[in-house]
Amino acid sequence: MSVSIRRLSAACGAEVMGIDVRQSPEETTVAQIRHALGEHGVLLFRDCDIDPEQHIAFSRHFGPLEAHVIGDFALPGHPEVFVVSNVIEGDRPKGAVYAGQYWHSDLSYMKRPSLGSLLLCREMPEVGGDTMFANMYAAYETLSDPLKKFVSSMKAVHDYSHAYDTYFSGLKERPPLTPEQKAKTPPVEHPMVRTHPVTERRALYVNPGFTTHIADMPDEESRPILNILFRHSTRPEFVYRHKWRVHDLIFWDNRCTMHYALADYDFSVRRHMHRTTIGGDEPY
Ligand code: SIN
Repeated sequence: MSVSIRRLSAACGAEVMGIDVRQSPEETTVAQIRHALGEHGVLLFRDCDIDPEQHIAFSRHFGPLEAHVIGDFALPGHPEVFVVSNVIEGDRPKGAVYAGQYWHSDLSYMKRPSLGSLLLCREMPEVGGDTMFANMYAAYETLSDPLKKFVSSMKAVHDYSHAYDTYFSGLKERPPLTPEQKAKTPPVEHPMVRTHPVTERRALYVNPGFTTHIADMPDEESRPILNILFRHSTRPEFVYRHKWRVHDLIFWDNRCTMHYALADYDFSVRRHMHRTTIGGDEPY
């Protein structure tokens, strides 16, 4: 069966059909997926009833896998699988609770942020728990020329602690980072606009989750500019909202999208996901 691609929204996202993710894809298929990822930002593969080994094996075709800095959220026996879950067993969460409930691009706080992530839906409430994706090419391309020029000349600082200070403060399931975890994630600077290595298109590269400020600017100047950029990037016409079905696998590109996990569901209902994270390059 040949691979076909169907767009999911005007903003971004496409469904990929004709691939059995349990089989090792041909090199040409891998190239096709890489290209489609850069083009559409988000790729949906339906009906992926796969186990962690199959998830890992498929993901590895797109690059080396990263283990998350918080080792506690790894699937036992599979450090490459980051568990995103609200399920508590005993008194221990089975994964990262409240993960991604703010706009962010995975691992932008690392010197070499993640290329992309593959999130597999294992359990989902009937209503709610969608994930939104924002097209950061569109965000950049629709800025005014003076603002484009400004952001293209500047760097911004990204810090993992920012999410903890801003979104997780006071949540017992997400205690502050330990000194060791902080030492692994010192603040880093990245260009505010990055060039996608596959499409060569430019994308805005700042996100509310991890971007603390524009480098070399006082907060009173930096904060209002970042707020304008965050509001602009998440305009509804740039956003695709995915309603999950169990066994959906979504591969998103962290270089040209950011995402947001909606916390609009009944937390007594299980939402349980497995994520692999592909290593990436230094933004330029
Ligand atoms: C994440 O940010 O990796 C989690 C997204 C989600 O659970 O929808």
